[in-house]
Amino acid sequence: MPMPFADRSVLVTGGARGIGLAMVRAFLEGGAHVVYVDRDETLGRAAEDAMRKEYARVHFVPADIADFESCEAAFVRAESLVGSINTLVNNAGISPKTHGRGLPVDEISIDEWRRVVDVNLNSLFYFSKLAVPGMKRRRFGRIVSMSSVAGKAYLDVCALHYAATKAAVIGLTRQLAGELGPFGITVNAIAPGRIDTEMVAVAGAEANALYVAQTPLKRLGTTREVAALCLYLASREEAGFVTGQVIDVAGGWLMT
Ligand SMILES: NC(=O)c1ccc[n+]([C@@H]2O[C@H](COP(=O)([O-])OP(=O)(O)OC[C@H]3O[C@@H](n4cnc5c(N)ncnc54)[C@H](O)[C@@H]3O)[C@@H](O)[C@H]2O)c1
Repeated sequence: MPMPFADRSVLVTGGARGIGLAMVRAFLEGGAHVVYVDRDETLGRAAEDAMRKEYARVHFVPADIADFESCEAAFVRAESLVGSINTLVNNAGISPKTHGRGLPVDEISIDEWRRVVDVNLNSLFYFSKLAVPGMKRRRFGRIVSMSSVAGKAYLDVCALHYAATKAAVIGLTRQLAGELGPFGITVNAIAPGRIDTEMVAVAGAEANALYVAQTPLKRLGTTREVAALCLYLASREEAGFVTGQVIDVAGGWLMT
């Protein structure tokens, strides 16, 4: 079986479930050494126990990535487990909802706003800041971050903070790609439409059915489909000339 990621030390944020977990599994299948960071210790450990039956090269590091100190501690621990991180996947994200919908601007609390910005945007800066020096020294690196179609178009189930942070991920991706290209580091983002995970289940069957009806491919996406794009963007050769891009996995919901 080909192991195209055998030389990779991968850090995935939010890898205990959903899209992040599918990415962890896909990198393991490709032969990588993988550390995933997640605030949910119970889920994280259970996933680690399950994956360890098949793969020795997987490690869970519990951490809440909302502040720099926690990210730094998690990063140091990750490198002590798998060596220098050459592949960073900024996947963790939150989309707070009340009765299946994001709150309107005048009802979002200051704490909720700050939390979403911390998790969905600031953590990407923190982990990039931590990982880039080593990548620059070795003149190779891959960074893949999760944006969303909500960062490119109005979606009524999401709230302002979610849309704003997912749009900011696009700016961060482009700026980093320009800055880091000369060092052999590519930086790209994925903008999923509605993917079948817990985050989307919270929106409720009715909202999801409406989305499916408006989607040319007439279904929700799968976590495997997002993970496959992540592996492509993280590849050394196949995507070696692809940087600063934001690629939709949305069943054709948004065609720009
Ligand atoms: N599911 C979708 O349809 C969809 C669509 C567009 C974008 N996305 C983005 O894809 C990413 C993954 O989405 P998902 O559907 O798998 O979400 P999910 O809620 O199923 O999983 C997210 C994971 O991130 C972890 N996490 C959240 N906050 C954290 C924190 N502060 N510290 C550490 N870990 C934290 C959670 O514990 C969880 O394991 C997110 O960035 C999300 O915004 C998802």
